[in-house]
Amino acid sequence: MKALILYYSNYKHNTEKLAKVFARKINCDLINIESTKDINLENYDLIGFGSGVYKESMAPKLFKLVDRLNLKGKNVFVFSTSGVGMKFYNNKLLKLLKEKGAIIKGSFACKGSFIAKEFSDNKIFDFLGKLSQGHPNEKDFKKAEEFITKLVKLL
Ligand SMILES: Cc1cc2nc3c(=O)[nH]c(=O)nc-3n(C[C@H](O)[C@H](O)[C@H](O)COP(=O)(O)O)c2cc1C
Repeated sequence: MKALILYYSNYKHNTEKLAKVFARKINCDLINIESTKDINLENYDLIGFGSGVYKESMAPKLFKLVDRLNLKGKNVFVFSTSGVGMKFYNNKLLKLLKEKGAIIKGSFACKGSFIAKEFSDNKIFDFLGKLSQGHPNEKDFKKAEEFITKLVKLL
């Protein structure tokens, strides 16, 4: 089984930390999409797509990349880190992947720390920012390992 993880993580490297946990667990290739142009998916049985959430959306760059790739019949999974840590932020990318003919194998999300005052005066973000401190943490990484182990077993 050959797997590849493609990720975008430019704020606090929260998603990158998660991507590295997945990659270590299943011993797969890892690509930061900001530092590469040519991606050849031919030899991969599984591809993971991850990003932080910025203003309610995973990174536009990741959507643009997915749009360019030939994903017909490919096994894929999606992961994100966000202030709230909810999986619903993955849904838009999952929908696009489905439209591209990919086979959805899983979706994972956890909290990623952020400092609200760096981008918003909204009090609710201030509160959520406090809750997100320290994430992703060891518990999140353990859940991530369990997720990827189960996913790979079912391939
Ligand atoms: C500009 C900006 C906008 C954000 N918007 C949201 C948001 O809409 N919802 C949310 O839950 N978290 C939001 N966050 C928090 C990030 O999703 C969180 O810090 C994430 O872990 C960042 O990932 P990264 O460090 O891999 O880039 C935002 C962070 C930034 C910097």
